[in-house]
Amino acid sequence: MNYNIAVVPGDGIGPEVVGEAIRVLNAVGKKYGHTFNYNTVLAGGAAIDEYGECLPASTVQACKESDAVLLGAVGGPKWDHVPGDQRPERALLGLRKALGLYANLRPAMIFEELADASPLKPSILDGGLDILIVRELTGGIYFGDHVTETDDNGTVTAYDIERYSDYEIQRIARTAFEMASKRQGRVTSVDKANVLDSSRLWRKTVADMSSEYDNITLDNMYVDNASMQLIRDPKHFDVIVTSNMFGDILSDEASQITGSIGMLPSASLADGNFGMYEPVHGSAPDIAGTNQANPIATILSVAMMLRYTFNLGTEADAIENAVKQFLRDGYRTGDIATSGEAVCGTVETGEKIASYIA
Ligand code: IPM
Ligand code: MG
Repeated sequence: MNYNIAVVPGDGIGPEVVGEAIRVLNAVGKKYGHTFNYNTVLAGGAAIDEYGECLPASTVQACKESDAVLLGAVGGPKWDHVPGDQRPERALLGLRKALGLYANLRPAMIFEELADASPLKPSILDGGLDILIVRELTGGIYFGDHVTETDDNGTVTAYDIERYSDYEIQRIARTAFEMASKRQGRVTSVDKANVLDSSRLWRKTVADMSSEYDNITLDNMYVDNASMQLIRDPKHFDVIVTSNMFGDILSDEASQITGSIGMLPSASLADGNFGMYEPVHGSAPDIAGTNQANPIATILSVAMMLRYTFNLGTEADAIENAVKQFLRDGYRTGDIATSGEAVCGTVETGEKIASYIA
């Protein structure tokens, strides 16, 4: 089969980690007889430099015409002076909206070989950790009105609107229930229903939806409590479903609990099979161009692409097993190395993982 992938390398370490993910994808293609075609386009700081805007229409068009999008990371200090609504990060929000990517899957799991990396006590993590955060990605406060205004007395006021409609909550709840039914069957819906109307609608809508899923246990948690329980008792969680902003915050917290944010992939899905795949980490401008970045999060992101967009489960497993083999053989990138392990650069890591697939 032929698959067309739009590639947005982005800024900082983005191009380096994307390059290794493509190397691994090509190894998969060779082994299993698929052809992956890549159409590289610009977004973020790279697009500001080239076209004067962070998300050119041609980039959106190329992504829409593709079967899936692979993205590195955007942003960096070079564009700190750019006004808020034109910053590289806006390209991400723009792509999510334009492509209808409302369901963001962010797994936070601990690799057996890296159990020591977590900042939490072994007694709390006993037996590992495997949480899936399902974050709503195209609604809520990030996409509500943003207003800054000055009144006649010179007082400046700014506000942002958190807004959810029932259909937006229904479709993300459905994603969470479907995901949970392939896992441990538990969904925790996180909101702030003791204060916010939008959260009360969220809670009611998720509860209504749950009646369609007999096999799922649903519980609700306020976001402040959830942020505490993630540290106190992370094993409570199987699937967490939550709004755009709460998901943004909790997914950073959850990723840090695993101790290795350089290992975590993500998928942003639209209705149907279309999706955009990117590592959870950012553009790490401090180490860009030094061959030190960990490409594994991006490599695991293409495994998610194979699984969710192309329905190639065996091929996705092959990538995940190759990553585990790399770790089992004692190789590490700098960010996850403790003492006595062979530290590999970005390129060497990609080459080794690709060779395990071959
Ligand atoms: C993320 C990031 C983005 C977000 C930023 C860069 C706009 O933090 O993907 O979590 O807030 O969604
Ligand atoms: Mg974030």
